[in-house]
Amino acid sequence: MNNSQLFTPEMMLYITVGLVFVVSLLVLLLSVYVLQVLKAFVEKQMTEEQRVAAAAEPSWFAQLWQKWNDFKPIEKEDEILLDHNYDGIKELDNHLPPWWKGLFYVTIAYAVIYLLVFHVFQTAPLQEEKYDMEMAAAAALKASQEADLVIDFDENTVTASTDAVELADGQKFFEVQCAVCHKADGGGLAGPNLTDQYWKNGGSFTDIYKVIKNGVTGTAMIPWESQLNPIRMRNVASYVQSLQGTNPPGALPPDGDLYDPQQEELETISNDY
Ligand code: HEC
Repeated sequence: MNNSQLFTPEMMLYITVGLVFVVSLLVLLLSVYVLQVLKAFVEKQMTEEQRVAAAAEPSWFAQLWQKWNDFKPIEKEDEILLDHNYDGIKELDNHLPPWWKGLFYVTIAYAVIYLLVFHVFQTAPLQEEKYDMEMAAAAALKASQEADLVIDFDENTVTASTDAVELADGQKFFEVQCAVCHKADGGGLAGPNLTDQYWKNGGSFTDIYKVIKNGVTGTAMIPWESQLNPIRMRNVASYVQSLQGTNPPGALPPDGDLYDPQQEELETISNDY
C-alpha cells in the first residue's frame, strides 16, 4: 500500500473528525476544571450565611429534572386530586411531563415538514422514484463498465479462456450463481452433471457458452445474458469446460449425448476438405 492509497479523501475525513473529537473533549475537560476553580474561589469569598443558603438550594441537575418532569410534590397532591372516588381509588389530574409534550410537538412539526417536502413541493424523491433513480444509476454504471470491455467475439466465435485470473472469476460466479443447481463441484443436482462428456445441449465450447447466454427454454436453466456481461459469461463457460473429467464424488449419472472433442476436430477437418 503506498501513500496515495493510505491518504484517500475518506481517510482524511476520518482523521479530521477524530482530531476534532479529541480537541473538543480536551476543551470540555478544561472548562469543567476552570469552573471548579472559579467555584472554589467564589465560596472562599462568601460569608457563613451565604454558604448555608447556597448549600440548601437544589442542585442544577435537580432543578432541570423538576422542570422537565413537572412533578407535583406529594405534600401538594391535594391540589390536583379529582373529586371522584371509586371504592377508595382516587385519581390525580397530573400534567403530561413537559419532555413528553416536547417530543409530541416535534413529531407534529416533523409530519408537517415531511408533508411539505415530499408531497406538496416534491423537493425530494419518494421511495419509488428513488428506486428508479438508483436503478438508472446502476444501469449507467454497468453500461460505462461494459463500454471499457473489449468484446471481440460473439457466441459463435467465442473461445475458452486459459487465463488463471479469468478462470478464477468464472469459478467465483459459478459457485455463487450456479452451484445451487449444478453443485459447487459441477457434479449436478437439479441441473445436469457438467463434469462428464455427456451433454444435452452439445459439449463444444460455443454450445456451453450459448446455453449460459440463452438458457434452455422450458427448463430451470435461465438465460444469464442480462446478469453477466460477455466477458464474465466466457469466464464462467471456460470454468465449466475446465471441470471436464474431474469426476467429483456423488456426481449425477451421464445425461444426453456423448461429446468427443477429437471426433469434432476430425469432422471439422474433413468438412474443410
Ligand atoms: C435453477 C437451476 C439452475 C441454475 C441456477 C443454473 N442452471 Fe444450468 N442447467 C439447469 C438445468 C435444469 C439444465 C438442463 C437443461 C436441459 O434440460 O437441457 C441446465 C443446463 C446447463 C448446461 C448444459 C448442460 C447440458 O447437459 O447440456 C450448462 C453448461 C449449464 N447449465 C451451466 C450453468 C451455469 C454456468 C450456471 C450459472 C451461471 C447455471 N447453469 C445455473 C439448471 C440450472
